[in-house]
Amino acid sequence: MTDELQSICDFIRYATSRANCAKVALGQGFDSTLDEACFLVLRSLHLPPDMPPAYAAAQLTSAERALLLERIEQRVEQCIPTAYLVGEAWFAGAPYRVGPAVLIPRSPIAELIQSSFQPWLHSEPARILDLCCGSGCIGIAAAHQFADAEVDLVDISAEALAIAAHNVDEHGVVHRARCVESDLYAGVQGQRYGLIVSNPPYVPNAEVDALPAEFQHEPGLALRSGDDGLDLPLLILAQSSAFLTDDGLLVLEVGATADALLDALPELGGHWPEFEHGGDGVVMLSADDLLAVAEPAAELLRQRGASNGR
Ligand SMILES: C[S@@+](CC[C@H](N)C(=O)[O-])C[C@H]1O[C@@H](n2cnc3c(N)ncnc32)[C@H](O)[C@@H]1O
Repeated sequence: MTDELQSICDFIRYATSRANCAKVALGQGFDSTLDEACFLVLRSLHLPPDMPPAYAAAQLTSAERALLLERIEQRVEQCIPTAYLVGEAWFAGAPYRVGPAVLIPRSPIAELIQSSFQPWLHSEPARILDLCCGSGCIGIAAAHQFADAEVDLVDISAEALAIAAHNVDEHGVVHRARCVESDLYAGVQGQRYGLIVSNPPYVPNAEVDALPAEFQHEPGLALRSGDDGLDLPLLILAQSSAFLTDDGLLVLEVGATADALLDALPELGGHWPEFEHGGDGVVMLSADDLLAVAEPAAELLRQRGASNGR
């Protein structure tokens, strides 16, 4: 086999055929098996993802061919996500280190960051919080977009924060971004932010169990949010008010749990933006929107007896 496959193009074609034949699950940053195969092959070879097509005919060394065959097998047979095999995922046009301790970045919030949260964010934030930061992709992309802002990145997982800290360093924002190990707001008491962005866990436990094998490689802590997916979103809605400035904005992703959240909390106002590049289930709340929903969310949590630890 290693003799039959020689060029970059051969391996992209082979990886795509194997993925199609095995009907691998997509959804972790790629829309097609061809896109995913291109990324796997090019980034495994340390080549740019937008490499000019002329290089596709380049011959590979035997060591490169062996590495690619191994990774293609791991992707197809063990359903290991390509981002974990390569150790990298792209978000808002930039690369981030990833590993099994963090969710593979894919939030539609990237699009909102790139448009500076317009027209919902009314003033440039001096301080930004990425709550439930995982790899840190949201907070770091926001740090790039708002070049004078200080950014706190919070996660409960020390392993995830180690990756976020690496990404903060790699992106050259270490002088104005800090990583805080914390259960939601516990570690940032007394702070106020002009922008709080959160992509927390919001998938119902049974739905996580039913996800394809690829998603079982991601940390359960990043996905699971109780029986109906609402545990973390409700805690965030109940607690955020004290941490947002008067002219600030809370951006909260709840994905397909949006309907359940609106059913449970009809008081929830705000705006649900549409996305040009796909995705939905993100709500933008002003300080007033948050004030109106904080007590109903807290009351609901009391009734449910939910706890931070789930
Ligand atoms: C859906 S992932 C999002 C990661 C990243 N923001 C992104 O968009 O790729 C959710 C993250 O929340 C973290 N998390 C779960 N419970 C938490 C809690 N109570 N406090 C802080 N972080 C928490 C998980 O460790 C995980 O990294």
